[in-house]
Amino acid sequence: MSTATKPSGRTVRRGERIVRVTIKRQDAPGAAARWERFDVPIEPGANITSVLQWIAANPTTVEGKRSTPVVYDSGCLEEVCGSCTMVVNGKVRQACSALMDDLCPGAGDEVILEPMTKFPVLRDLSVDRSRLFSALKRVRAWVPVDGTYDLGPGPRESAEKQETRYVLSTCMSCGCCLEACPQYTLEADEKKWDSSFVGAAVLSQARYFNEHETGRTLEKVRLDELSRPGGVSDCGNAQNCVRVCPKEIPLTESIGAVGRSVTLHRLKQFFTGR
Ligand code: SF4
Ligand code: SF4
Ligand code: FES
Repeated sequence: MSTATKPSGRTVRRGERIVRVTIKRQDAPGAAARWERFDVPIEPGANITSVLQWIAANPTTVEGKRSTPVVYDSGCLEEVCGSCTMVVNGKVRQACSALMDDLCPGAGDEVILEPMTKFPVLRDLSVDRSRLFSALKRVRAWVPVDGTYDLGPGPRESAEKQETRYVLSTCMSCGCCLEACPQYTLEADEKKWDSSFVGAAVLSQARYFNEHETGRTLEKVRLDELSRPGGVSDCGNAQNCVRVCPKEIPLTESIGAVGRSVTLHRLKQFFTGR
């Protein structure tokens, strides 16, 4: 088999498809970012995660400079945990489900990897999504049972309700909808998280738990929270969120449902004082 040598010093086999991978790198929170380029041989069925694994084993740039493995997050490797979310060729998505055969079908194609911009960068492609989890706490995104004793069977739920709620339950807190949202801006100051926009994922989770037969016991607290600054009225209805959600969650429908609930809640408070 004939071979050639790339600038990185690596031998390339004839017929091997090489793709250029350009990565935005940052050594620490707040540090300056820089770009590095790697030429990576692509196996059929490879995804971005496997490309990053290859670079970890061969961290030499196209200029032949020895670098370090790229830092990124991953967990499930099947688009369920949301931890590997990053910006791939300008589109926010999961690295594990981004297939190189779709992204870069030809030899010499390029893929550009960047961290999400709405969350503080920890290192390279790894970001801190704490604000998202903090907002889920703000709206009490849970069913209030303590689990220390048997409560017996819960209230029955209709098949229609289950159908509506199932898709909402598939949210993996990946952050794609927040990355795409013009109303959701980077906010590293934790003191401001209590009044900054919660974002589409959290509004949808508030709807999910408000529609749960037991979860709705906290409905009033959730609607109180979503009536405040950073709640549903901060949504500008640009609808970017629903276009990028990998789980196809009907986010604008959820936002509309929460908006109506908040309006009714305020009217009720106005007339009854409760
Ligand atoms: S509809 Fe609301 S939450 Fe969705 S992208 Fe637009 S402003 Fe953001
Ligand atoms: S709503 Fe969709 S895009 Fe937003 S965090 Fe959940 S799964 Fe990700
Ligand atoms: S590793 Fe879990 S979604 Fe990609």
